[in-house]
Amino acid sequence: MLAVIEAAYGTWPGFDLTVPAIEHLRWKMAPGDGLHPKHIVILIEDQIVVSRLRWQNHIQIGGHTYLNETGADLAVHPEFQGRGLARLMVDTWTPEFLADPKASLGMVSSAPEVQTMDYPDTITRPVTTWHRPFGLRPYLGVHRRLGLAQLAQAIRVRRWASRQPRGLPGSRIELVERFDARVDDLWERARPSFDVIPYRTSAYLNWRFAHPASGSPELLTLTRGDRALAYAAVKHSGTEGQLQDFLWAPDEPEALIVILEAAAHRLRRSGAAGVTCWLPGGHRAEGALRRAGFAAVGEQRLVVGTETRGETPPEALEILRDESRSIHVTMSDFDWV
Ligand SMILES: CC(C)(COP(=O)(O)OP(=O)(O)OC[C@H]1O[C@@H](n2cnc3c(N)ncnc32)[C@H](O)[C@@H]1OP(=O)(O)O)[C@@H](O)C(=O)NCCC(=O)NCCS
Repeated sequence: MLAVIEAAYGTWPGFDLTVPAIEHLRWKMAPGDGLHPKHIVILIEDQIVVSRLRWQNHIQIGGHTYLNETGADLAVHPEFQGRGLARLMVDTWTPEFLADPKASLGMVSSAPEVQTMDYPDTITRPVTTWHRPFGLRPYLGVHRRLGLAQLAQAIRVRRWASRQPRGLPGSRIELVERFDARVDDLWERARPSFDVIPYRTSAYLNWRFAHPASGSPELLTLTRGDRALAYAAVKHSGTEGQLQDFLWAPDEPEALIVILEAAAHRLRRSGAAGVTCWLPGGHRAEGALRRAGFAAVGEQRLVVGTETRGETPPEALEILRDESRSIHVTMSDFDWV
């Protein structure tokens, strides 16, 4: 599978790793936390020529839990491209996929050849890309493009993240190797405040972030005694700083600002030129991001399901497509990072 993936993509994965690619592939195929996705290959004369992984997690939609699944790393060996094999793979996927009710959240691919394979009745919701440059010139530049009112606010919050991040009384910000039971408790407290949120148990998060084959972001926690108030996963690669994931306690709104500051501060100190994150449009963290100097710099589309394929039960699809329903999804919910 790795040989086909590498032949199709050239460099894979598209981000830096501290382990050989085969270990990353094995990690990706076996997510743990009770998940056992089956992956599909097409063989011609005993040789794998097409490969596709399933990217899985659990997701809460309207108070119920579903298995959430999307395709990843579709790869056709270059010698076999242009013969309809990718189409065959995508269509073959469907019958088994329909065996149980599931959700299927994914990001619209930027690859033109894959866009032609999207289903015509795909339902999407907007995802905003937020960016906060650290240098003064790019900082003013990014906000000026969004109008004078935005520029004025950006100047007001300019001092943010240029010094030590502020704290909350009695709380600590720490870099941690793994998440512990305090993060499970945070997840339980935070999950009712979103209509749609992929699971963020410590078991899942430790597979996603703390496993050496995962891509290894740094993990920050904001705690007070035995309570976690917020966490963040950040990664610095080249000049880019990614805020890959974060969550905060809904009854501690200041914890959100503090963890955003701590994440940016960490990235800035490690030499990143700025910090980027994604959030669904209308997310309740938008005000805090603006207060923290972030600007909305782009929009992508989150695929939440299709009418006709039927993998997502109607009651879940109704919630997913309703723009007034709150979704918490970050870049770490997909395999781009
Ligand atoms: C993208 C890829 C999987 C396509 O595989 P393939 O077997 O050549 O594709 P198919 O022959 O089945 O064609 C599938 C569809 O894509 C379209 N397509 C294929 N190559 C294309 C290209 N270069 N540009 C635009 N459309 C293209 C076909 O017209 C076809 O559309 P249709 O189903 O509506 O008729 C293959 O080129 C590949 O492995 N690329 C590298 C890895 C990659 O980019 N994967 C997808 C990332 S999400």
